[in-house]
Amino acid sequence: MRGAIDIPYLGSLIAQNSFTEPVRGLDTIPVDEHPPINITHWAFQTMVGLGTLLALLVVVFWVARWRQRDLLTKRWFLRSAAAAGPLAVVALEAGWVATEVGRQPWIVYGFMRTEEAAASYSGLWWLLGSTAVVYGALTVGAVVVIRSMTRRWRAGEADLPSPYAPERGATERVEGRS
Ligand code: HEM
Repeated sequence: MRGAIDIPYLGSLIAQNSFTEPVRGLDTIPVDEHPPINITHWAFQTMVGLGTLLALLVVVFWVARWRQRDLLTKRWFLRSAAAAGPLAVVALEAGWVATEVGRQPWIVYGFMRTEEAAASYSGLWWLLGSTAVVYGALTVGAVVVIRSMTRRWRAGEADLPSPYAPERGATERVEGRS
C-alpha cells in the first residue's frame, strides 16, 4: 500500500464499530473474492473528490457573502455553479460504481456469487440498444429545449414556460457585460 493516510480510532469506528479493533485489509480476503480493485478505488476517489469540491464551492460562496462580496456577479463562480450540476451526477454515478463493483464477486455477501445469480437472456442486446436510443433521444431533446429557452430569454421574450428563469437583469450584472 502506498500513500495510506492513517486515521487512528476513527477508521476502526467506521469499519468495525469499535475504537480498537483493527480494520481488515484486502490482504485478509482470499484472492478469488477480491473485487476489481482499481475501478472501485478510482470510483470512490472520484466521488469523494467531487463531493469535497462541491461542498467547498458552497463554503466559498458563503464566506464571500459574509465578507460583503457578491460572487453572483463573478463569471468564474457562475461557470462553477453551472458545472456543479453535471458534476454532482458524475459523483452520484461514481458512488454507485464504487458500491456495485466493490461488492463483487458477491450478489449476497458470503452466500451467493454474482455468477450464480446471473441469467442469460437472448433479447438483452435489443433491450439495451432500445434503452440507449430512447434515452439518447430524450437527452438531445432536453438540451435543444433548454438552449432554445436560453436564446428566447436572452432575446428579451417574457412569459417563458419556466418558473426557473433568472431574474431579469441578472446577466447584465456579470462582470464583462454591459
Ligand atoms: C466527501 C464526500 C463523500 C463521501 C465521504 C462519501 C462516502 C461514501 C461511502 C463510504 C459510500 C459507500 C457506502 C457503502 O459502503 O454502502 C458511498 C456511496 C455512494 N455515494 Fe458517496 N460520498 C461522498 C460524496 C458523494 C456525492 C457528492 C454523491 C452524489 C452527488 C455521492 C453518491 C453516492 C452514491 C450514489 C453511493 C452508492 C449508494 C449505494 O448504492 O449503496 N457521494 N459514499
